[in-house]
Amino acid sequence: MFEVVCNDAMGAKKYQPDVPGACVSTQAHYNGRMRILSGIQPTGRFHWGNYFGAIRQYIALQNGQGTAFYFIANLHALTTVRNKEQMSQNIQDAALDLLALGLDPNQATLFVQSDVPEISELCWILMTSTPMGLLERCHAYKDKKAKGLPADAGLFAYPVLMAADILMYDSDIVPVGEDQVQHIEVCRDIAGSFNHTFGEVFVIPRAQVLADSARVPGLNGGKMSKSYGNAVDVFGDLKVQKKKIMGIQTDSRPMEEPKNPEGDHLFELYSLFASPEQTETLGETYRRGNFGYGSIKKELVGLVENFFAEARERRRQLEATPEIVRQVLADGAARARRKAAEVLRRVQEACGLRKQLQTDKEIQ
Ligand code: ADP
Ligand code: TRP
Repeated sequence: MFEVVCNDAMGAKKYQPDVPGACVSTQAHYNGRMRILSGIQPTGRFHWGNYFGAIRQYIALQNGQGTAFYFIANLHALTTVRNKEQMSQNIQDAALDLLALGLDPNQATLFVQSDVPEISELCWILMTSTPMGLLERCHAYKDKKAKGLPADAGLFAYPVLMAADILMYDSDIVPVGEDQVQHIEVCRDIAGSFNHTFGEVFVIPRAQVLADSARVPGLNGGKMSKSYGNAVDVFGDLKVQKKKIMGIQTDSRPMEEPKNPEGDHLFELYSLFASPEQTETLGETYRRGNFGYGSIKKELVGLVENFFAEARERRRQLEATPEIVRQVLADGAARARRKAAEVLRRVQEACGLRKQLQTDKEIQ
């Protein structure tokens, strides 16, 4: 069984909604210096679901008592992005977006997945500890197969590469949105099985999802996702953003009728951007009735613009200094590789691929 830590310390009460990157994290459940790791695919521009479900956590956790590693999962993205210009543009955009949103390279290590080639070797080793049935149950592969779409081996083995990402850095906590929890469960199973065979080599990680934004709704109320056409990009054009917000689907009940804010996706989206007081007031308005959805949407347009205004400005500045971004990624890769080499050596020794006393020099 997997374990999900819903970290209420970062829920609506402590999170400061007007300052992206200013969340407060208290990891009371963890003693000692934990290792935090997460990855995000460069498959397109980040949307509100990515920010509130995942990126917001990355930023909150970088200032705690842990060591944070975050990476741009370009090897995973290769299962869908098959154009080289598009891939490098997406990687650059992902780095800019993360840095602009508050990821601080002095606090956390940011790198590109393929800059740590050790990952492919660990992935292969883990593959040999992964039962087929485990991967057959994973949703991304299962959904594609159910739709009769062709699936490649990369998509099938996707969770094993993800397990390698996590285990490679001795990660304790993996901040993600709800949809990734199954993959972390798979990682725990693979690590457990490897440890059972070869000894206590891997740290068993835990997923961390935020209670208030594990599954951010899209414009139509379903889960927000780039694949469902219901997403709003964090740094999208403001006019397009406004049009999308004004187009959020709502019901056609009479204005006077009192309504329940619970489970209402417009209310849920509003509460992500508003202060607790504003959210409370809107909840009362819903329950009282006599209001139009149009005015709430208009208010939301303003809240959203304000919420990301500073980050937009930071992004503009970063865009003008690509050499800084390059340097951040190069430093990050060097730091990540040091840890990866250490863990890979431990794994190789445990399964007899490298003799216990063999030094790096001997095999060069
Ligand atoms: P998408 O579904 O748009 O392709 P990704 O799979 O690239 O998004 O997700 C990247 C990160 O953002 C993951 O940690 C994922 O759990 C999180 N995430 C994506 N969509 C949402 C959402 N609607 N609500 C909460 N978290 C989300
Ligand atoms: N699969 C994740 C996603 O689609 C991205 C990812 C790759 C990841 N490797 C990871 C997330 C390791 C957490 C840990 O969003």
